[in-house]
Amino acid sequence: MNYIFAIILLVCFQKSVSGLVEHPSDNWRTDIRTTNVGRVKYEKGEVNLFQNQEKPTSFFFTPFPLVNPSNSKCHTNILSGYVELSFAVELYTSQLTEAVNNYLKEHFSTLCNSNKTCHISMLPMNVIGLIQKGLRANKIQEMYKINQEWFPNTVFLQSINFPIYTKNENMLSTHLEDFSNELFFEIFEYFDILDIYHSFWGINQRFNNLLQSLNNLPLIIQNENLLPFDFCAHQINRLKINTTKPIDLTHFSNLHTLELYNANSNEIEQIQCNQMSNLVNLTISTKFHISLPLELIHDIFSNGFRLLRYVNLNRLDHFQFNSKFQSLSLNSLCITCINSNIIPQILLACPYLIRFSITFFGQNCHILPPSSPSYNHLLEKFSLFDPYHKLTCDTIQILLLYIPNVKYLNLQFLCRVPFINLIESILNRLGQLERFECDIFESPNNHMVNVETIQQMNESFQYLECIENDNGSRRFLLE
Ligand SMILES: *[C@@H]1O[C@H](CO)[C@@H](O)[C@H](O)[C@H]1NC(C)=O
Ligand SMILES: *[C@@H]1O[C@H](CO)[C@@H](O)[C@H](O)[C@H]1NC(C)=O
Ligand SMILES: *[C@@H]1O[C@H](CO)[C@@H](O)[C@H](O)[C@H]1NC(C)=O
Ligand SMILES: *[C@@H]1O[C@H](CO)[C@@H](O)[C@H](O)[C@H]1NC(C)=O
Ligand SMILES: *[C@@H]1O[C@H](CO)[C@@H](O)[C@H](O)[C@H]1NC(C)=O
Repeated sequence: MNYIFAIILLVCFQKSVSGLVEHPSDNWRTDIRTTNVGRVKYEKGEVNLFQNQEKPTSFFFTPFPLVNPSNSKCHTNILSGYVELSFAVELYTSQLTEAVNNYLKEHFSTLCNSNKTCHISMLPMNVIGLIQKGLRANKIQEMYKINQEWFPNTVFLQSINFPIYTKNENMLSTHLEDFSNELFFEIFEYFDILDIYHSFWGINQRFNNLLQSLNNLPLIIQNENLLPFDFCAHQINRLKINTTKPIDLTHFSNLHTLELYNANSNEIEQIQCNQMSNLVNLTISTKFHISLPLELIHDIFSNGFRLLRYVNLNRLDHFQFNSKFQSLSLNSLCITCINSNIIPQILLACPYLIRFSITFFGQNCHILPPSSPSYNHLLEKFSLFDPYHKLTCDTIQILLLYIPNVKYLNLQFLCRVPFINLIESILNRLGQLERFECDIFESPNNHMVNVETIQQMNESFQYLECIENDNGSRRFLLE
């Protein structure tokens, strides 16, 4: 909630600027006699224009603060313990100076189009930034008045950077109204949608409309004390759920990314392609292994989710794979599995797969090499982890035949044949290999080639490390 209070302070700062815009005569005096000569419409607001009476070709305009979102950050300052919202605010842009110039050409055509050129400049910075509404002490006002020395000069793009920090919540504002929708949209980007609703819903109809017009929002559900979210579910496009509480997914119809941690079968059953047709990125992670509904596997691997590209199925070891599956959208897949035959089946089913990462929990079983000599899958990155050391080197060497175009290979397993045999089949089978990572144990054998020799066999092996164990085994590491 601290974040929201930071907004309120911003709002107060903005008010002091806009106070100046709206009531110039209340808030600043000037020793240059100026006349307010009109308001220039700009974007959805206006800027005031003043003419220097001593030097009529000189004009001042009031600033038009625009938050520059790319330079704005929200973070906790660990030294002070405060939340800081750092904004970069541009006080005018070249489009604004152009609008002011056009206004002058139109309304002061004789003056500004004649031999004398008109000059424009923004009101001096120290006048703008430091006056606060209600601050009327003469002494302070003295400090910020314009004197004769101020005169317009060439306009430079000016911006100010300021951090706002607060823990103070007693400033709930009556001024919220004064700011543009765009400013709110920019501010809202920093906050959780539920916090935003909590803070702004019901203030008035404008805020309600504003909140309802937000879309493509992220939402993380991870507390046990859940705020209600059904009413804004259609505005969410990235959803992360990490709670043991059952969650109703039916209202999330615009999801692009869904991450389910601690998923239970009830939630998994709610992932349906007719409900979530825009899904691009899906992560399902459970603590223990669990079987995916056949229907969901079918939808994932057969274009049920037409746009689905990135899939991460963690601990869904029991996989019923059907040889008719075919997905033209899957790009990146991360799975756990217990049957090594699934690996070539998935490659056949997903011709556009680029990244494939497998954690293996099963027993080794024999797999057949590709049946067609023209087999040529385009996969670029392949990772295989066998934490229980069940796969044989033979199986892994056959798998290499299914990934002939791989550029990045990562293997973690126990090699019960000479490590050099594996290296040789990698070099024979993966002509495109650029990067190799591994954590491979080699059982003691009669053909333990020096690591220096292996390092020289290809550039991608040159940083291979070898640790020799007392029991005669070796561990090859490369990260
Ligand atoms: C502009 O300059 C010309 C000659 O340089 C002069 O005749 C004319 O009166 C000037 N115009 C104004 C508005 O001063
Ligand atoms: C899920 O929550 C648990 C504890 O609440 C935390 O340890 C874990 O890192 C979280 N996982 C993710 C992916 O956020
Ligand atoms: C998909 O979601 C995962 C988190 O599960 C994230 O790490 C990844 O960057 C996302 N990918 C894309 C392309 O959005
Ligand atoms: C060996 O390394 C070179 C240079 O990185 C690479 O171009 C080549 O394809 C690699 N050869 C094999 C067989 O991996
Ligand atoms: C050999 O020693 C290493 C390191 O101590 C150990 O990780 C490995 O399991 C041992 N291998 C056998 C076959 O005992």
